Amino acid sequence: MDALHTNDIDAIIETDRARVWHHLVQHKPFETVDPRIMVEGKGMKVWDARGTEFLDAVSGGVWTVNVGYGRERIANAVRDQLVKLNYFAGSAGSIPGSIFAEMLISKMPGLSRVYYSNSGSEANEKVFKLVRQISHNKYNGKKYKILYRDRDYHGTTITTLSAGGQQERNAQYGPYTPGFVAIPHCLEYHNQYDSDLDYGPQVVAATEEIILREGPETIGAMCLEPITAGGGVIPPPAGYWEGMSALCRKYNILMHIDEVVCGLGRTGTWFGYQHYDIQPDFVTMAKGVASGYAAISCMVTTEAVFDMFKENPDDKMSYFRDISTFGGCTAGPTAGIENIKIIEEEGLLENCIAMGDYCMGLLEALKAKHEVVGDVRGKGLFLGVELVSDRATKASMDEKKVAAVTAHCMDQGVIIGMTNRSVPGFNNTLCLSPALICTKADIDQIVGSIDKALTDVFG
Ligand SMILES: Cc1ncc(COP(=O)(O)O)c(C=O)c1O
Repeated sequence: MDALHTNDIDAIIETDRARVWHHLVQHKPFETVDPRIMVEGKGMKVWDARGTEFLDAVSGGVWTVNVGYGRERIANAVRDQLVKLNYFAGSAGSIPGSIFAEMLISKMPGLSRVYYSNSGSEANEKVFKLVRQISHNKYNGKKYKILYRDRDYHGTTITTLSAGGQQERNAQYGPYTPGFVAIPHCLEYHNQYDSDLDYGPQVVAATEEIILREGPETIGAMCLEPITAGGGVIPPPAGYWEGMSALCRKYNILMHIDEVVCGLGRTGTWFGYQHYDIQPDFVTMAKGVASGYAAISCMVTTEAVFDMFKENPDDKMSYFRDISTFGGCTAGPTAGIENIKIIEEEGLLENCIAMGDYCMGLLEALKAKHEVVGDVRGKGLFLGVELVSDRATKASMDEKKVAAVTAHCMDQGVIIGMTNRSVPGFNNTLCLSPALICTKADIDQIVGSIDKALTDVFG
């Protein structure tokens, strides 16, 4: 076959249809409908191969492009670094790797070491390996279990799925890695207990029961999203984090916070956990770290954890024997440096809080107007709208109808998301995560499109 010309859009689409396997997509419809090819982005907007313009309210589909599209400054810095040195294995350091680590650590009091890799799943696996190795080296292999929360997601590999609380993501990929134990979700809207009072402490108490059932001496770590993302955009109730943190201290359990979505400003602080009074032992991050301008993930931990892995230099098995080939790519930290500078210089954390509050106000108005809006929730520019078929029982809206709302917004030129193949019966939450640069006019357009879609789909 002759080389494809990038301007021959029909040929590109046909070749995509014939050759490319897209993520999280059933491909049968592509036999009659063209796959969408995205070709350009600028600020909040993207254009597809047919020239259709969209306002992107989900930062690249999966809450990633935090500083918006078309940042020449990032591209130029990455280009210069690639020409100088594109890669060397992570056993050596790099200039951007060193600088970016210092920048990150300056935003994360109490943490001091950065380990580079290239996806959120991989960063989470690093923590799981560290926890298992600590268990082997310090606790005779006994403190190996890792708690994960119902509705949370930590990645796509078999072991991160083993720590996954979204059954539609996990189903059919077992058997899973042993040693992962589920604890209850903390979504107050769907209270799992008899009393409405003190919901956070009730979830904590239920978690403590599980710890006692399993035996605290068998539990090495607890892995949690600061605000559950794909499981329904779930900010924790009052008292939750204080309680979970106290459990970790009481039972000598390491706390792992998965900031793959919330990290680097999504909720108006550098990291989601910083809204709460907690001190994690591990923090993982990926998507917003370089806003999708390069693939990078980071596992950040304390000096206390780091020190455990150099205690026995004579034992050749006692250090962290992990490899990440592409953790040595210099593009990631180079893009990460510019990404942080942009957030700081443009005041994007402040904008995130202001626009998040503005958007939440409009969403509350939508709830007052549309009976199908059961709950609106979130923090900063990380927001969810749960659709129900009955407000009294909180029964979920049929997910096909929820998908009809997202499709209607798309037809209006606005890309929004929804919980998708996550928790059975709960793929009913619309998701918004616009770039941190968004304006009131963008938010008006986004919420306006949802308003119109709800009116047209539900009458
Ligand atoms: C909270 C959370 N953790 C981890 C991941 C996995 O990241 P990746 O797809 O980069 O492996 C995701 C991806 O959506 C996520 O939402």
